[in-house]
Amino acid sequence: MSIESILQQRTSVRAFVDQPVADDTLQKIFASAQLSPSNCNVQPWQACVVSGATKDKLKQRLIETLMSGASPNPDFNWLPQYQGIHRERQFGSANALYSAIGVAREDKKARQMAMLRNWQFFDAPHAVFFTMDKYLDIMGAVDLGIYAQTLSLVMAEHGISNCMQGALGQFPDPVREILNLPDERGILFGMSFGYADDSAAVNNTRTDRELLENSVTFF
Ligand SMILES: Cc1cc2nc3c(=O)[nH]c(=O)nc-3n(C[C@H](O)[C@H](O)[C@H](O)COP(=O)(O)O)c2cc1C
Repeated sequence: MSIESILQQRTSVRAFVDQPVADDTLQKIFASAQLSPSNCNVQPWQACVVSGATKDKLKQRLIETLMSGASPNPDFNWLPQYQGIHRERQFGSANALYSAIGVAREDKKARQMAMLRNWQFFDAPHAVFFTMDKYLDIMGAVDLGIYAQTLSLVMAEHGISNCMQGALGQFPDPVREILNLPDERGILFGMSFGYADDSAAVNNTRTDRELLENSVTFF
């Protein structure tokens, strides 16, 4: 599949069938993502892939953390208060999601339940946490974003869908503990992935994009 057609077809997927990705496919995909470029070739990404019992344990701990009323404490500056047009687009994407699953805007409880699905990895068979040394801050964040998009495109070529999730960086402590990561390691964000459940309403979520002339200036 060409990159152009992958870009036309790809959407974030938030429901998956109960079928893990074969180990050799996982190896291939992550080996290809290693080819991502990075500033000075420092390759700051430390990708932590969770599956099976480890993923289930982490899911349980994340949900317990959330239910305890804990406030998010991301390792990096990721508590966005979007403004203006960015806020409008944020509402637009939330509305696209909630209308796909038939949740009314005023139904706070249903919206919270939909949000909770993030920390259940949307029942995906795998999730990956994009981690890096905390000191790298914005320099590393750029590289991790590029790495994640490379990974996402390679996954698409193998028929594997995903949802990138800032939500997975909001409660880093249980992740560090269960994956036995050192204190200096920060969790920036994550991604749930697997084979899409095409029958799930949530996967009908469609977002739009700004007109080219409002995003790109040719000088
Ligand atoms: C860095 C990043 C973080 C994201 N975090 C979340 C998230 O926490 N939960 C979620 O459901 N979607 C998340 N998304 C998915 C976006 O909502 C989605 O990409 C956007 O609405 C555009 O829709 P599309 O991917 O279907 O084209 C994230 C995407 C990116 C790139």
